[in-house]
Amino acid sequence: MPLTSPQAMFTRAYAEGFAVGAFNVNNMEIVQGIMSAAKEERSPLILQVSAGARKYAGQTYILKLMEAAVSDTDLPVVLHLDHGQDFEICKAVIDGGFTSVMIDGSHLPYEENIALTKQVVEYAHGRGVFVEAELGRLAGVEDEVSSAENVYTDPDQAVEFVQRTGCDSLAIAIGTSHGAYKFKGEPRLDFERLEKISALMPNYPLVLHGASSVLPEFVAMANQYGGKIGGARGVPEDMLRRAATLGVCKINIDTDLRLAMTATIRKCFAENPEAFDPRTYLKPAREAIAGLVRHKMRNVLGCSGKA
Ligand code: G3H
Ligand code: 13P
Ligand code: ZN
Repeated sequence: MPLTSPQAMFTRAYAEGFAVGAFNVNNMEIVQGIMSAAKEERSPLILQVSAGARKYAGQTYILKLMEAAVSDTDLPVVLHLDHGQDFEICKAVIDGGFTSVMIDGSHLPYEENIALTKQVVEYAHGRGVFVEAELGRLAGVEDEVSSAENVYTDPDQAVEFVQRTGCDSLAIAIGTSHGAYKFKGEPRLDFERLEKISALMPNYPLVLHGASSVLPEFVAMANQYGGKIGGARGVPEDMLRRAATLGVCKINIDTDLRLAMTATIRKCFAENPEAFDPRTYLKPAREAIAGLVRHKMRNVLGCSGKA
């Protein structure tokens, strides 16, 4: 089945109160691990590529990996640009065959975010491509965008933003952040704000970035085998489940994949110091990715069996 738009997935996700997982990919083993879990779970799927991942792997390699990923499955799979920072990168991936893009103008003044988002929407919609935008700001650092503090999304402004830009989904800030250190104290998301936003925009798909749960077993495993990941804390999985019933149709996960992969490779190195064939650690790393994604689909996102 060819790569598809997320529109139909989100319509169903919204109606049935689940979320589609959007998993960041950088190389073949990550793609293969995620695909094997999706096949087992019969789940819809978004594979997303950041500007950094595109630079790392190269757009042609990414596109060819996707071609291979969807060649032997009837599952709906979306190829999405994560955190597109300008019109040029959105245009480049749309022209290359991505089926969905995020234009992230969240760091810009409001009117500039609107103007940039509108420009991307116009180009993308002319070519049948889906557009995610962002309003509000997540704390933390992405490739091209960084912010010291959370600026939560204003519900009324969100309505106006969507009306004026025509974007197809909206990433909102309600307390999540990118990376492994999301909360200093008790984890807290602003569900009241989320409820307000979804009540003002019924049937409109919302997106949650920074939604890794930073599984303690992988942090512990990484640290047991020489890592130094202290004070890591993610979004509790029951909160993600709740968000999925309140209009959040897409949940972004990258850090959890990184932790699963790195912890597993550290363990392999420690247990097999004599080994130097990359397959001895990349195979278990790929299996760890698959196990993690299966867990997310089944127990957190609720998207198993929804393909
Ligand atoms: O939101 C950021 C994603 O985790 C991608 O991270 O820009 O380091 O590839 P990256
Ligand atoms: P995490 O860092 O919580 O995995 O978030 C990933 C993300 O939002 C990618 O856009
Ligand atoms: Zn993000």
